[in-house]
Amino acid sequence: MNMSTRTVPKLTLFPFTTDINKQGHLCIGGCDVVDLAEEFGTPLYLFDESILRHKCREFKEGFAQHYADTLVIYAAKAFLNRALAIILKEEGLGLDVVSGGELSIAHSVDFALDRVYFHGNNKTPEELNLALDWGVGRIVVDNFHELQFLDKLAAKKGIRQDILLRLTPGVDPHTHQYTTTGTIESKFGFPLATGQAEEAVNQASSASGLNLLGLHFHLGSPISEVQPYETAMELVLAFARGMSQKFSFDLDEFDIGGGFAIPYTLDSEVPTIADYARAVTGKLDSLISELGLSRPRLIIEPGRAIVGQSGVALYKVGAVKEIPGIRRYICVDGGMSDNIRPPLYGAKYEALVANKALKAGGKAVTIAGKICEAGDILVRDVNLAAVRPGDIIAIPVCGAYSIPMASNYNAMPRPAIVMVKDGRARLIRRRETYQDLMSLDLI
Ligand code: LLP
Repeated sequence: MNMSTRTVPKLTLFPFTTDINKQGHLCIGGCDVVDLAEEFGTPLYLFDESILRHKCREFKEGFAQHYADTLVIYAAKAFLNRALAIILKEEGLGLDVVSGGELSIAHSVDFALDRVYFHGNNKTPEELNLALDWGVGRIVVDNFHELQFLDKLAAKKGIRQDILLRLTPGVDPHTHQYTTTGTIESKFGFPLATGQAEEAVNQASSASGLNLLGLHFHLGSPISEVQPYETAMELVLAFARGMSQKFSFDLDEFDIGGGFAIPYTLDSEVPTIADYARAVTGKLDSLISELGLSRPRLIIEPGRAIVGQSGVALYKVGAVKEIPGIRRYICVDGGMSDNIRPPLYGAKYEALVANKALKAGGKAVTIAGKICEAGDILVRDVNLAAVRPGDIIAIPVCGAYSIPMASNYNAMPRPAIVMVKDGRARLIRRRETYQDLMSLDLI
């Protein structure tokens, strides 16, 4: 890292291309973000291409170094658009999609569909039809209804569809309840403990339209420990061994889902990609030899850890409201309409005044959005340089789950998105207009 990081510790949360220029402005990917805010308007989301590609490689190489047969499939739900899909394709990743919409984005850029894994607890008949017609690599079957429907559909089309079964191992990943999926009461997957996972293997093994290739679990997101992965791997691999004896089932693919955590704030302590890689592959190796299994292909599904740090949200300050002795509000021109994570999950962020990036933090302030909800607070109690109307606020680590969960609440147009690299900024999604908002209405 550079000199500025020492004087401004918050910079470590931004992409590694971040610096501060002579005017004291934040620069990312060689672009002055204050200029970008001027040129493209605010709220603006920028993605740094260098760190995005770097994270793809860190996952690929980090896991392959210990376990050569690993496939990294990016979880599209964290953020997908066409420009990003092209980058992921160039980096040789696979894709985890959960809807016909995500699948269509991949299809539109000629993404290799045999590397696409289709997830979801209620894929519609239309989505499954599309997936089979387009030759999606794997369908990750979630429940008996889907298993039976897909079997018939594939048989009707004269296909034997490769599938994985999604299992619920009954492991708590210690994350927010809304993003916990590995516990038995989850709406996702076949529970191990109830015997339904075994019945699913039984049915899938004898279904003529289905080719059962392996097992999947996803415990939740974000998971700040390696232990839950290890526990779930023990349970699922022991189950796989039982199933190989009972139904001559071979585990060709073992998919441990995503959920790898990233630091959002300076005090976050989370494992690095290398830590996750070492723990997961070490556990896999030892379980394989302990249980006498043949080596499956390992699949991992990172979403947040690939795009999170690449993304930075930029807002312009309007009203500054002081409630004497109580709170100072900095009101910005976006809010929960572009980032619902703080009100929904209590998510925490840091922030910086992009046009006064070298100025040390003064008093703690609260950054409020402009949406008509009292809960529309982006960052509570953050130390910022003295803020005036017109200043630009930059919030780091906004690349995952902000844009894809954005809404038009309060008839807010969704923000523009730019990709920055080597001093150039390219618009990868234009800002919605009021006309766009009305374009589907009929009178
Ligand atoms: N695989 C499956 C089956 C998933 O359901 C998910 C996330 C992932 C992979 C990727 O997880 P990641 O590596 O991105 O943590 N909206 C929430 C997160 C919801 C995650 C949903 N599933 C948030 O903003 O924190």
